[in-house]
Amino acid sequence: MAEESWPLELAPEQMRRLVDQALARILDHVASLPRQPACDVDGAAELARSLVERLPERGTPYEDLLRLLFDTAIPKSFNTAGPGYLAYIPGGGLLHSAVADLIADATNRYVGVWAAAPALAQLEANVVRWLGEIVGYPPEARGVLTSGGSIANLIALVTARRERLPPDFLSGTLYASDQVHHSVQKAALLAGFPEDSVREIPCDAAFRIRPDALRARIARDRASGRRPFFVVGSAGTTNTGAVDDLAGLADLAAVERLWLHVDGAYGGFFLLTERGRRAMRGIERADSVTLDPHKGMFLPYGTGSVLVRDGEALRRAHSVAAHYLPPMQESRDFVDFNEISPELSRDFRGLRVWLPVKMHGISVFREALDEKLDLTLRATEALQAIDGVEIVAEPQLSIVAFHLVRPGLDLAGLNALNRRFLDRINARRRVYLTGTLLDGRFVIRICVLSFRTHADRMDEGLADIRSAASEVTG
Ligand SMILES: Cc1ncc(COP(=O)(O)O)c(C=O)c1O
Repeated sequence: MAEESWPLELAPEQMRRLVDQALARILDHVASLPRQPACDVDGAAELARSLVERLPERGTPYEDLLRLLFDTAIPKSFNTAGPGYLAYIPGGGLLHSAVADLIADATNRYVGVWAAAPALAQLEANVVRWLGEIVGYPPEARGVLTSGGSIANLIALVTARRERLPPDFLSGTLYASDQVHHSVQKAALLAGFPEDSVREIPCDAAFRIRPDALRARIARDRASGRRPFFVVGSAGTTNTGAVDDLAGLADLAAVERLWLHVDGAYGGFFLLTERGRRAMRGIERADSVTLDPHKGMFLPYGTGSVLVRDGEALRRAHSVAAHYLPPMQESRDFVDFNEISPELSRDFRGLRVWLPVKMHGISVFREALDEKLDLTLRATEALQAIDGVEIVAEPQLSIVAFHLVRPGLDLAGLNALNRRFLDRINARRRVYLTGTLLDGRFVIRICVLSFRTHADRMDEGLADIRSAASEVTG
């Protein structure tokens, strides 16, 4: 009788080859990160078009697929894991987390239901608890790991809506500064609020929400029959890293009976540092907080989190029973993640946080974040010394925004000059920076958040900024 063949069930040797060959490529790739351009997407659209294909009926040799990935597709990207990536909000890519994912995926245990893997669910619960400790939350706080900050903000908003508004919630009104991340507006739309429900409150000169304007807008809305219920404080805006006065917002939220959500997706982990703790004083009084480990803990993309001070509120907003599920555990010591989040089946995200933290301890992350704050100050000082460069937003965390000024140019001319300036900086490919608009002015940002960015790369980037400045003004 012919031996049965089950091609998806790999023999141990086949598995080893699968992993070893990928690992060899990964190690070469990671070692070459500092030598790779900070951004290379020349011809990437044509490449993307050339990759369109129908569902394959037959397989392709593994080596060919690795070649396609590592030699062709991966190089044509922003080098988001490299030391020169100072754009948007840098991610990280700790290899520890990649290994954790391999373990989690290969063992494929189920952490959404406590009964299916109690010990692993507990490891993830520990991770959530650690995040709560970083915020300064009490033990009854609960939270979940999400795919990112956008979903975390959505979960916080839906929880607040369930807690603070009646089922007919359309007059509910949300408040955030005009610098808030757009995921808040998106969350409002997804949560069913009409488009005009989010009030954009103006900021002060440091891009922090103006409490006087917020108070006035709430009063106007109440007078016109709206139901103010939710205010977002930013713990590090995406544009400039501005931190709202969180203690002041907590006072205001208490008086106005609003749910205070703090979006710390970018800045939250600076709470580990003394400077960050000072800047975000009062965060522990927020009803909910978003933190993105795939930003401030240097993890690979795909790990955000939301924490809610009154953990039972998360449960009230998300718990729905079904007969086909195993019984949910009763003890308050344990958590069934599906009962406090929108998801049932999902990856075991906790392990990608747990492994690096357990291996290194949190002090290593604290030191790395302190280094990012120092590098940002170093960059700011150097920028100030460049002829024609003006700092538009002093760093509050690890972002500095600047532009070139030239007397006699109108706004459009100045913006065009600064776009050219940015292109010239990036053309050198040692660092990759991006710009934004602040009050109509195009500004360039340096955002330091990669664990691989150190003083050597920052100094190279500053040299490139210096020479680009003299090119465009000379
Ligand atoms: C302040 C802030 N909030 C929320 C988000 C959204 O996070 P994610 O991209 O993980 O969905 C970002 C992303 O950069 C952010 O900077």
